[in-house]
Order: sequence, then structure tokens, then C-alpha cells
Amino acid sequence: MTRLVPPHGGHDLRPLQVPDESRAAELRHAATLRRLPITSREKGDVVMLGIGGFTPLTGFMNEADWRSVCDDMRTSDGTFWPIPITLSTDPATAGEIAIGQDVALVDPDDASLLAVLTVAEKYRIDKAHECKAVFKTTDPEHPGVRMVMQQGDVNLAGAVRVLGDGGFKARYGELFKTPMETRAEFERLGWSRVAAFQTRNPMHRSHEYLAKVAVEVCDGVLVHSLLGNLKPGDIPAAVRTHAIAELIDKYFRAGTVIQAGYPLDMRYAGPREALLHALFRQNYGCAYLIVGRDHAGVGSYYGPFDAHRIFDEIPHDALAIEPLRMDWTFWCYRCGGMASARTCPHGDADRLLVSGTKLRKWLSEGAEVPAEFSRPEVLGILRAYYASLEAHEKVEVKLSGHSAR
Ligand code: ADX
Repeated sequence: MTRLVPPHGGHDLRPLQVPDESRAAELRHAATLRRLPITSREKGDVVMLGIGGFTPLTGFMNEADWRSVCDDMRTSDGTFWPIPITLSTDPATAGEIAIGQDVALVDPDDASLLAVLTVAEKYRIDKAHECKAVFKTTDPEHPGVRMVMQQGDVNLAGAVRVLGDGGFKARYGELFKTPMETRAEFERLGWSRVAAFQTRNPMHRSHEYLAKVAVEVCDGVLVHSLLGNLKPGDIPAAVRTHAIAELIDKYFRAGTVIQAGYPLDMRYAGPREALLHALFRQNYGCAYLIVGRDHAGVGSYYGPFDAHRIFDEIPHDALAIEPLRMDWTFWCYRCGGMASARTCPHGDADRLLVSGTKLRKWLSEGAEVPAEFSRPEVLGILRAYYASLEAHEKVEVKLSGHSAR
């Protein structure tokens, strides 16, 4: 009998991956179908459905689900769900697809067949309505809003049967774990009270501190990195996860932390995305999610602790996982250590506060970064990455200069 938190919806995990024994037949069937290109965000969602991270969904949402998720954070059958999981196409393509028809969803990265969708419904949405509900803005500068505004005008709903993992296992190996795999690993380690640490960054000292606070009070921590796509200019997953592996190796006790990654793209929906982060971490077997400052935010669209408050606004039985709400963390020179706005009595002048923009500037210029901000091993990996970018840019400038002449 497991002591881990149950999957969302209270039933078993529901991976929509086609079982091995019927995969060859399903692939042959898929090869005869109309091919439907999908976006990177949709690919992440398909892979997540495949591995059971979006339990208990059975596929892409229909109009009733879409509306009720936007307005009430529930699917039409009452399951708590904070962000629509939808697939879209252009009106001409939608017009050529019949209700009940199977279509093959094509991986945007390598054009392979990723899944079969049985189209149950076609519908148009009010995109501004979705953006207001999910992102709290319709500003086209918001990267999540832009994604919704640029998607096709017709949504296709229906059950999916997933044929592969989108190449995540090949690219990331053991780092790409399914919810069944993380649950098995937690059981093996004898963990039942597991906290997830969501991240789309290499871990600096403020992140390390958050994870260590959780190690103090839980059986263990799952450091769970986003492996899908981010905004242009952000650090790629391979570099981030390498830095995190070094940090864990050098600065955490063995057996207290596991690193893994998940296949989604970032939506930047702040508080609503924090709820989605919690929901799927419950499926991965975690009883707690660390929620710090400006969780899943971008720019200044959300208040720094809106993602804390939203957990108080949902029904108490919406999720079995709970947030570990943590205040702003930093190095304080007067405290002489890591601290948070909750524990440190000093002022900003004593605190080392570094914005992402400032850090990028330091790293790309090869400037010194304070050791109180980030561990030397992490900085070494980031410096090498920025240096390789610069070398690459120099080659590009040379090449474009050459072709211009
Ligand atoms: S995000 O995907 O949630 O935006 P990010 O990597 O920026 O990921 O942050 C990971 C987690 O650490 C989030 O819960 C975020 O709120 C928290 N966090 C990051 N930096 C700090 C900080 N200095 N103080 C408190 N929490 C922080």
C-alpha cells in the first residue's frame, strides 16, 4: 500500500501512451491518416498526456471544458483544472476534418508521428476571454498571450493515443522521468512526504536555499526542471540541468534530492500556472510544491506573491498536494548567510538582490558574479555557455558579413 499522495482525480495514473504490444499496429494505422502539424506547446501537452502527467484527462478539451476551465477552473465533469489543454488548427484544415475522424499529430521537431487524435468536436474560442482568465492580460507582449493569439482559430477536441515521448528520453536520458518512474523511485527510497521544486533556471543560492528548507521538513525533494521551450534568450534545458546536477552533487547530501525534468513549454501564466504545476506534481507523487516569489511569472504582470494567494482561493479539496509558500530569499550581508524577507530583519541595502537581466549582463561580459549569489561550479557552466554563444555569434556575424559582400 503506497503512502504517496494519490494521482489527481483520485484514481490510478492514466498514461495515454499506447501499450508496447499494440504500438506497431497503431503506428501503421497512424501512417495512413491525415497528418496534422502541431506547435511546440501542443507537443509538450501530448507528451505529458502520454506519460500520465495530466491524469485524469483523456485528450484535448472540448468547448464545454474549455469554457468551464477558463471561468471556474473545472472541467465540465467537475475535475479541478486551472489552464485549458487544447489543440488548434486553421479553419480550412478544420473544415476538411470530419467529426469521428482519426488524425495523426506530427512532432514539430522531427516530423515523426507523435499521437492519434480522434476528433470529437471542432469549435472556435474567444481568445481574449482565455487570455483574460488565464494570464490576467491580453497584452500581446506577454509571451503566453502571444502564443494563444497566434494559435489556429479552430480547436479540435478528442481522445488521444500517444505513440512516443517526443524524443525526450533520447535527449535527456534518465532525467526524463514519467510519473510512474518518480513514484517508483520515491517508494524505493522510502519517501512519502516529497516536495517538488519547479524550475526553469539553473539553481542559484536562493533556489538552493528554498530546496534545502524543504529537505529540512520533508523526506526528500524532487528538483523538477522544465525541458520544453522557453522565451528566446533563456538558458537551454541541457545547460540548466547540467548546472543543477553539479549543485546537487557538491552541495546536497546524497539521498535527499532527485533531479528530473518534464516535457512542457512554459506558459508564463503566473498564479494559474502555479496551480497546474501543483496538479501535475501530485501526479508525479509529490505532496508539496515549493512556491516562492513570482512563481511562473514574467515581467510585472503578476504580484510577487499572487501565486501564494491563489491556493487560498480554490476549494480546499481541489488538490491533494499543498503549496510550501516561501518568501523572497537572498544573501544578507548582515545576517551573514541566506535568509528570506520573513526571517531577515535588515533592509535592501544589506541584501544581495540580483535581477535576471543583471546576471545575464555579468555573464555575457565575463564580469565577476558574487559567490554569495551563485556557486562557482554553477557559474563555471554558465560562463562556458555564454562564451560558446558569443563564439557562435561571431561566426554568424562573419558569415553574414561575407554573404553581404
Ligand atoms: S518558475 O518557473 O517558477 O518561474 P524559477 O526557476 O524562476 O521558475 O523559480 C523556481 C522557484 O523558485 C519558483 O517557485 C519561484 O517562485 C522561486 N524563486 C526563484 N527565485 C526566488 C527568490 N529569490 N526568492 C524566493 N523564491 C524564488
